[in-house]
Amino acid sequence: MKTLAVIAQKGGAGKTTIALNLAVEARRRGMSVIVLDLDPQASAAAWSDWRGNDDIPLVAVPSTRLTHVLKEALEASIGLVVIDTPPAADGAAVAAARAADLILIPVRASAFDLDAIRTTVELMRVVQRPAFALLNALPPRATKLQQEAAALIKEAGLPLVSVEVTERSAFRHAALLGLGVMEFEPAGKAAAEIARLYDWLADRLFPGSQTNPSETVDCGSATSKVVKGPRNHSKEVQTELPL
Ligand SMILES: Nc1ncnc2c1ncn2[C@@H]1O[C@H](COP(=O)(O)OP(=O)(O)OP(=O)(O)O)[C@@H](O)[C@H]1O
Ligand SMILES: [Mg+2]
Repeated sequence: MKTLAVIAQKGGAGKTTIALNLAVEARRRGMSVIVLDLDPQASAAAWSDWRGNDDIPLVAVPSTRLTHVLKEALEASIGLVVIDTPPAADGAAVAAARAADLILIPVRASAFDLDAIRTTVELMRVVQRPAFALLNALPPRATKLQQEAAALIKEAGLPLVSVEVTERSAFRHAALLGLGVMEFEPAGKAAAEIARLYDWLADRLFPGSQTNPSETVDCGSATSKVVKGPRNHSKEVQTELPL
């Protein structure tokens, strides 16, 4: 079992979007996946409600229960655990970072996001886990901006994922339906970027055993189910794995 934590102190950087899309892509490639939502905002849990499918179990976990839930996941032979975290360098982020085999730090190419990355870098120094910044929501064809942001991230002391994720409306549309972009628009550019990002991740987490993208599994009937749509959800906090 491998654990991916998606962490960024800055709100709205794309933590939940990246975490859920990678979870969907991992499932599509045949991996057993769970998502642990450590964020009290529970955006990932809301997405799971809208999805209305239990192919990717989602558990809202207080950070104090993380170790216990990870032990359960290991016993249940889960292949990949994806942890979504709140926008703060607090106890939840530290717990997720310590538990992670790899940490992704989504960063938007804005002055405020790039400035806030310093706090996240400090946290990474403390936990000493492999951590990579991921440029997210880059405007299309913004080569100069990408280069400037990449230089600032490297200067802050973080290695950068070699794949970037562009600002694309497919991410917002897919989320509203409880889908990943590869389910919403399989031939779209957003889906291609997530596939490349997953390849990058799998090379590091599962070297030598990468699944062939063409040998994908049907993610249940998520795309054909009646879509419930976003709503105020009152999902109870689960602390045991729904397996
Ligand atoms: N690459 C992208 N292209 C277009 N929209 C995006 C992209 N990434 C994220 N978004 C949108 O930006 C908003 C914030 O994203 P998201 O909720 O994933 O960020 P977050 O870091 O989890 O936020 P929070 O800190 O509040 O938990 C959402 O509306 C999401 O759909
Ligand atoms: Mg979030």
